[in-house]
Formats: sequence, structure tokens, C-alpha cells
Amino acid sequence: MPDQDPRLSSPAALRNRGPIADLLRPVLPETGTVLELASGSGEHFIHFASLFPKLVWQPSDPSPEARASITEWVESEALTNVLPPLDIDASSETWPLKRADAVIAINMVHISPWPATQGLLAGAGRLLPAGAPLILYGPYRREGQPLVPSNVEFDASLRARNSAWGIRLLEDVASLAEQSGLSLTSVTELPANNLGVVFTRQ
Ligand SMILES: C[S@@+](CC[C@H](N)C(=O)[O-])C[C@H]1O[C@@H](n2cnc3c(N)ncnc32)[C@H](O)[C@@H]1O
Repeated sequence: MPDQDPRLSSPAALRNRGPIADLLRPVLPETGTVLELASGSGEHFIHFASLFPKLVWQPSDPSPEARASITEWVESEALTNVLPPLDIDASSETWPLKRADAVIAINMVHISPWPATQGLLAGAGRLLPAGAPLILYGPYRREGQPLVPSNVEFDASLRARNSAWGIRLLEDVASLAEQSGLSLTSVTELPANNLGVVFTRQ
């Protein structure tokens, strides 16, 4: 029997990687290393690595299955500007690298416990030099605004799967980010009621 292909694939990642690339284009540096937290299947950054070949892409995920998928995608796409995936739990106080020129996290904040977001913001604050971006993508609540019905349903389904997950209030994320020296610089509405959120290291 042939070995199972370890490359994971997500229809949502294939749908949203175009709009996310448009969000990244004006914000990423010309050169340097981009750290991705929670890379999952790897289908986002392999697309970005071929679109932005001058950048070095550093994927990561705490899941061994995700890292196996990432390794296989990188090999099958013959990408040369990608480093081997790191095992990073965002909530850990130490990450196995000292610097990144940009940090991205796609669909992580609502699908992980709140300490992962706390760790993500603290870690990005430690690694990024002044002026460098942290870019988040996903659904958020906004103060004083009701969630659209599809996100109410999505939030309930997340909480049913894991009571520590759920759509976060962007204002909570932004005030925590300030404590790590990250200022909210833009919020962009993207398809399917998701936001692209950019912070800049002060
Ligand atoms: C919904 S998937 C998103 C994957 C990919 N970014 C995407 O949008 O297709 C959530 C990912 O977060 C990762 N994750 C969960 N908890 C984490 C943590 N504490 N630190 C880093 N990643 C985490 C999971 O392993 C999973 O790959």
C-alpha cells in the first residue's frame, strides 16, 4: 500500500491566501526573515514564499502533523527560501529564535487558548526590531458592534469544540499588544468577515 501523503490541504487556506497576500504586500520588508506562527498545513506560506522570493520564510507549528505537512509542501514546491519548520508553542516564554523582520499568524488567535495570544504578542515584541510588522488574520469582535450572524455561529462552534477558544475582542488584543511595544497601525476588512490586523513594533 502506498504511504499516505503527509501534505494537509484546507479549502479555506486556498481561498483566502490571495487576499492575505494583498494585505502583506505593502507591509512586509523587502528582505529579511518572516516568522509564521501556527502555519498549519503550510499552504499559506508556500504561496507567499513564491510571491515574495527575496524574503526568507520561517514556518512553525506545535503540531507534528502540521510540521510534516509543511516539510512535504516545501519539498514538492521546490522552494529554496524556506527554513525547516520550528516547533513553537506561542504561549511559551522562550522561542527557538532571537529575531524576525516580520511575524504573521493566520487563524491562530481564535483557535487557541488566550495564553497563546498573550505569548504571541510578547514573542513578537521580543523578536521584532523597531518599525517591523506583526500581521494577524482572522475574525474578531469589535467594541460596540454585534458579530455578524455567520461569526456568531462560528464562535459557538469554536467554543463547543474547545471552551478556551473563541472569537476575541480586537480592542483586548490591541491593548495587550501595546504592553509588548506593538502599536495597532491598520485594520482591513477582508472576505468572509475576517480582518487583517497590522501592528508595528515601536
Ligand atoms: C486553524 S489552524 C490555522 C492554520 C493555518 N494558519 C491556516 O490558516 O490554515 C490553527 C493552528 O494553530 C496551531 N496552534 C494551536 N495552538 C497553538 C499555540 N499555542 N501556538 C502556536 N500554534 C498553535 C495549531 O496547531 C493549528 O495548526
